[in-house]
Amino acid sequence: MPLKPLEAYELDRPSSDHPPRHSLDSDDSHAVDELDPLRDSKRPYRDNASHSLRSIFHSEKHALLGSPPRRSSRRWSRLRFCCLLLFLFVVTIFLLLSAGGLWVYKAGASYDGESEPWYPSPRGGTVQLWSRSYRRAAELVGQMTLVEKVNITTGTGWSMGMCVGNTGPVDRLGFPSLCLQDGPLGLRFVDNATALPAGITIAASWNKQLMYDRGRAQGLEARLKGINVILGPSVGPLGRLPAGGRNWEGFSPDPVLAGIAAARTIHGIQSQSVMATIKHFIGNEQEHFRQSWEWGTPNALSSNIDDRTLHELYAWPFAEAIRAGVASVMCSYNQVNNSYACQNSKLMNGVLKDELGFQGFVQSDWLAQRSGVASALAGLDMSMPGDGLGWQDGKSLWGSELTKAVLNSSVPVERLNDMVLRIVAAWYQHGQDDDRRWPNSTLGGGPNFSSWTNDEIGDLHPGSPDSKDTGIVNKFVPVRQTAEGGNHDALARRIATEGIVLVKNEGGILPIPRSANGLATKAKDGKLRIGIFGEDAYPNPKGNNACPDRGCNDGTLAMGWGSGAVELPYLVSPAEALHREFDNATVQVTDWKTNSVRKVDGTAAAQDLCLVFINSDAGEGFIRWKTVMGDRNDLLPQKGGDELVKEVAANCGGRNEDGNPVSDTIVVLHTVGPTVLERWIDLPGVMGVLIAHLPGEESGNALTDVLFGDYNPSGHLPYTIGKSEDDYGPDSKILKYPNGVTPQQNFTEGLYVDYRFFDKHNITPRYEFGYGLSYTTFKLSGLFIHPLSIVNTSLPAPRSYSDDVVPPHMDPRIPDPEAAVWPKGMRRLAKYIYPYIDDVESAKPNGRYDYPKGYDHYHKSTEAGGGEGGNPDLFTTAVSLQLSLTNTGNMVGEAVVQIYVSLPSTTTDIISNQTVALDTPVRQLRAFEKVLVESGSRSQVRFSLSRKDVSYWDVRVQNWVVPTGELRVCAGFSSRDVRQCGGFELIGGGGRS
Ligand code: NOJ
Repeated sequence: MPLKPLEAYELDRPSSDHPPRHSLDSDDSHAVDELDPLRDSKRPYRDNASHSLRSIFHSEKHALLGSPPRRSSRRWSRLRFCCLLLFLFVVTIFLLLSAGGLWVYKAGASYDGESEPWYPSPRGGTVQLWSRSYRRAAELVGQMTLVEKVNITTGTGWSMGMCVGNTGPVDRLGFPSLCLQDGPLGLRFVDNATALPAGITIAASWNKQLMYDRGRAQGLEARLKGINVILGPSVGPLGRLPAGGRNWEGFSPDPVLAGIAAARTIHGIQSQSVMATIKHFIGNEQEHFRQSWEWGTPNALSSNIDDRTLHELYAWPFAEAIRAGVASVMCSYNQVNNSYACQNSKLMNGVLKDELGFQGFVQSDWLAQRSGVASALAGLDMSMPGDGLGWQDGKSLWGSELTKAVLNSSVPVERLNDMVLRIVAAWYQHGQDDDRRWPNSTLGGGPNFSSWTNDEIGDLHPGSPDSKDTGIVNKFVPVRQTAEGGNHDALARRIATEGIVLVKNEGGILPIPRSANGLATKAKDGKLRIGIFGEDAYPNPKGNNACPDRGCNDGTLAMGWGSGAVELPYLVSPAEALHREFDNATVQVTDWKTNSVRKVDGTAAAQDLCLVFINSDAGEGFIRWKTVMGDRNDLLPQKGGDELVKEVAANCGGRNEDGNPVSDTIVVLHTVGPTVLERWIDLPGVMGVLIAHLPGEESGNALTDVLFGDYNPSGHLPYTIGKSEDDYGPDSKILKYPNGVTPQQNFTEGLYVDYRFFDKHNITPRYEFGYGLSYTTFKLSGLFIHPLSIVNTSLPAPRSYSDDVVPPHMDPRIPDPEAAVWPKGMRRLAKYIYPYIDDVESAKPNGRYDYPKGYDHYHKSTEAGGGEGGNPDLFTTAVSLQLSLTNTGNMVGEAVVQIYVSLPSTTTDIISNQTVALDTPVRQLRAFEKVLVESGSRSQVRFSLSRKDVSYWDVRVQNWVVPTGELRVCAGFSSRDVRQCGGFELIGGGGRS
């Protein structure tokens, strides 16, 4: 029974959209081999041959010229001398390499020790909410053969199907090939889908409902395009490094904001019966050295993270995603504490599956899997895209290798069963067995687009050199406006509008009028002169999608680049929207379409108001734009943005006798993250500044909504804007040069990233985390804090083990190897990943498998676990809060009320009962609400804080502990603008709630 029915068609293969740097991988290793100083000794014959050819040539030449023999013997001794030099050179290189290796071995170890082994892999099916799906999955998987099971765990190879990831189907039992597609802001490589605002933009909106709606829109569009699994949202990188190339795909360096945004997005996506993926687990905080060979080093960087920081910061949003029922987790490229994230048993078995009770499946990032058996034992469930150590070479680490590993007993059958159950249970859990929503391929189901061509007809397996299978691959299904989903373009506009943060509004320059009626103007014709300056206001002249994966910074910036980018169905540029909105009869708009400052002063001098557009871009490391290799080189605006602002602001409307500009300048910044504004923010002409983040397709419309006051700005910064990159701390910079064969990045700042670092070191930022202005003003009053009794028990309730919810029983016997051999006569596609083995012999055990360290030790379950996201008692309400919010201005508006907690600085250690110091951030965001209030009205706002919100992770107890001492709770409009505070004593109580 062939698993993939294949028919012969004419080959019509589009060029694959293979990430360029990936394809360099093999070339790189080749290059290294070519440069290997030991190469000569490995290939004596070739070199001897060439040497003798050279000698013949020389002697013939000498014979012809009649050279004297003495000269030839001198040449011989010179040759010997050269050989000696070469030999010494080779020896020196060898010694240097050995010394380097020894140094790396010694100095390269994690500052916090190496990752602890955690075995065996916990089985899925231990949570009530998933138990029905596991029962159904067990019924189906129980009927599967070994190769059918393996087929589900392994992708078919890069560009072997229509999506960026495609698993093998089990047609016999009606289990389809799953289509996995990026990504966090929309659907990558998909026609006519909505280009939504990026993660950083939705985070800046602080609007929970919009977070859900954005996820729902993505989920619906995915389902209508036949995508089973969306590769988003992203919360890793979290944003430890402000210049990190992919921070914009995620939400915020604050774990609570990121966790809430992720959970809402997941609820939205999964409400449409589409599986969401939370990624990248974990510590993938920079692009440089994220994977082996991509940056020249043989190993990926190791993010060395201590246990408390892992729990309180980086794993927090992942825990929230799991609590929201996320179907999949993607493990990351990098190593964590010197063990690759996709074969790190502590992270996948220990943290994800035991402690956080994750019931879905762990998939690898694309080629992040670095081993076959070890990754399976460490908890990896799905290999993506199925290729092994190299792209599209047909050599999977799983596929037939996993079949062999199960047959020769290196991977226990239970582990394979668990992998498959997790995938199939997630499929049931999200209703993908319902053929009204998910018709099977015979009813026209499956992906109806191709990631690899825009043509209607295309190759079905473009990654295979001998595929001749063409068919209709693009059906151009419209998804942006549907009866089911409403208008997603309008949703994109609303998110982009709410994601704009007004950071400066001197003299209330904003909002601006559309017409000049009633205004004094410079020009004799009475028209208001408005200048639009900067390339960022205008579309890319080459086209919105001219650069693959948006991998350049040309024209207005709507999103960053890489796999998190999508094709723009259209893009309303700021200039287009401004031209449309200004009243032509009374306003004259002048365009300055570049960032050139040559003669810009004259044009600026002729204006009544100057609008300057600048930006800062970044993206995924497989694309390089100019000198930006994914991560930003600095935090400054790019393409001369600072100079443009300075020149325009200094000359707008001309200069008065003091040398100051006569007219005002408003700056609009599109950006991937924190951007230093110091070169111009305090200039007298700069009166207004809007940070419009990455707005997606509706950029211009969103901007004009805020500029003209149709919408009262309500965005708040989801990060801190410092006065310089140094202000973020000595550990906040991208590691650009390798510090070892395995580059080491020690997260020595611990919990102190972004505002936590600024607060700890008393550094004044330009604009702090949570900051944002409105056209109205708000007041907070009457904070009422009500602690509940559970707050006086130090530890959560003991982990409960329910007898009713146990993983399904599956047959643990090793199946007959004969059944795994290639079926006779089956047509095979080159480089395609299949689960079959060549012969029974190849699956025979060959000595004892060298199991990873600690594999024979059964790891105890943690008390911090027990439910999805952790011990359910961690989410019990510990404190209730209530306060009043009043709109004291003249315009209806939305305020973002933020709740910060400060844990005590000393606590009673629950092991020794002594008072000990508790090193903890000055304040930490724990809750927020966005509330609409009419001018002059008041609204009651309520919050609840959970046990986890008021606990810290105790590394010795290995659990969340409520400290003793004063707990302070503050409500405010930013991390530094707290308006109402209160507190109470936590008395502790050695016991559990
Ligand atoms: C690599 C990226 O890191 C990941 O985010 C993405 O989902 C995959 N490529 C697939 O495109």
